[in-house]
Amino acid sequence: MTTMLDVANASVSFGGLRALKDVSISAEEGQVTALIGPNGAGKSTLLGAVSGFTRLDEGRVTFRGQDITGMRPHQGVGLGLARTFQDLEVMQRLTVAENVLLGFPDQPAERLSRLLLTPWVANRHHRATVQKTVDLLDHVGLLDRADTLASDLSYGEQKLLVVARLLATGADMLMLDEPGAGLPDVNLHQIGSVLREAVAGGRTVLLVDHNMDLIMNYADRVTVLHHGQVIATGTPAQIQANQAVIDVYFSRSHTAQDPVDEPLTPSQKGAPDAS
Ligand SMILES: Nc1ncnc2c1ncn2[C@@H]1O[C@H](COP(=O)(O)OP(=O)(O)OP(=O)(O)O)[C@@H](O)[C@H]1O
Ligand SMILES: [Mg+2]
Repeated sequence: MTTMLDVANASVSFGGLRALKDVSISAEEGQVTALIGPNGAGKSTLLGAVSGFTRLDEGRVTFRGQDITGMRPHQGVGLGLARTFQDLEVMQRLTVAENVLLGFPDQPAERLSRLLLTPWVANRHHRATVQKTVDLLDHVGLLDRADTLASDLSYGEQKLLVVARLLATGADMLMLDEPGAGLPDVNLHQIGSVLREAVAGGRTVLLVDHNMDLIMNYADRVTVLHHGQVIATGTPAQIQANQAVIDVYFSRSHTAQDPVDEPLTPSQKGAPDAS
């Protein structure tokens, strides 16, 4: 197995708050690695640190063996890393197809000089990009919605659109921040299947989510964060039987400030005595 992304001993503070404390996590090529944990555990901070939006106080980020610590956000896609954000970031007043088109990097028509001097290159490239957009929309089940305004999509369809745009970047390392939050089952399994197909095609996924159905059914490895620290790493089966994880998710002190969108189902809680 080849390690695609490696985060070693990462620490991040916001003023006096230590959001990440000595966190290490790695994502293997061709796998879905999940990062879970209660609200405020530091999951989005970790994605921010990997994708250059958040500065690490300590630690190192390595991608394909290259030290990318301190990378600027705009460098990510060029290196082969792309991410989604927790808040839906579809352009509501553009169509579904236009939203996906925005994901493709390095379009010749973006440069006015190229458009003026070699319009045929831009045209050819544009036709190819439109075809890829059709393929991607078909892949996520939104082809019949291609010309619909994004604002007219359901919440679940908008989440699928965000995934299609992420795939459009062509990045090998895909990082998603809660694609499953609030999704009906049907959309959840669509996203899970799309992610499995992405890794079957050789891509690597780092999946942040609370939704246990998504994690347990589609992840290869799971790391659990709590209060900025890793408390467990293992297969989904190991994680659902891990006593420290069960305590975090089901302890009496686990109240509304510390909610989990989708608790483990009784069968998923597994046998705590197995750990
Ligand atoms: N820019 C920021 N400035 C100050 N504090 C922040 C900032 N970003 C995050 N935090 C704090 O850092 C901690 C970790 O936040 P983070 O968003 O990483 O958690 P999370 O695991 O993604 O939670 P959620 O499941 O709610 O998305 C929280 O206490 C949060 O309030
Ligand atoms: Mg978050």
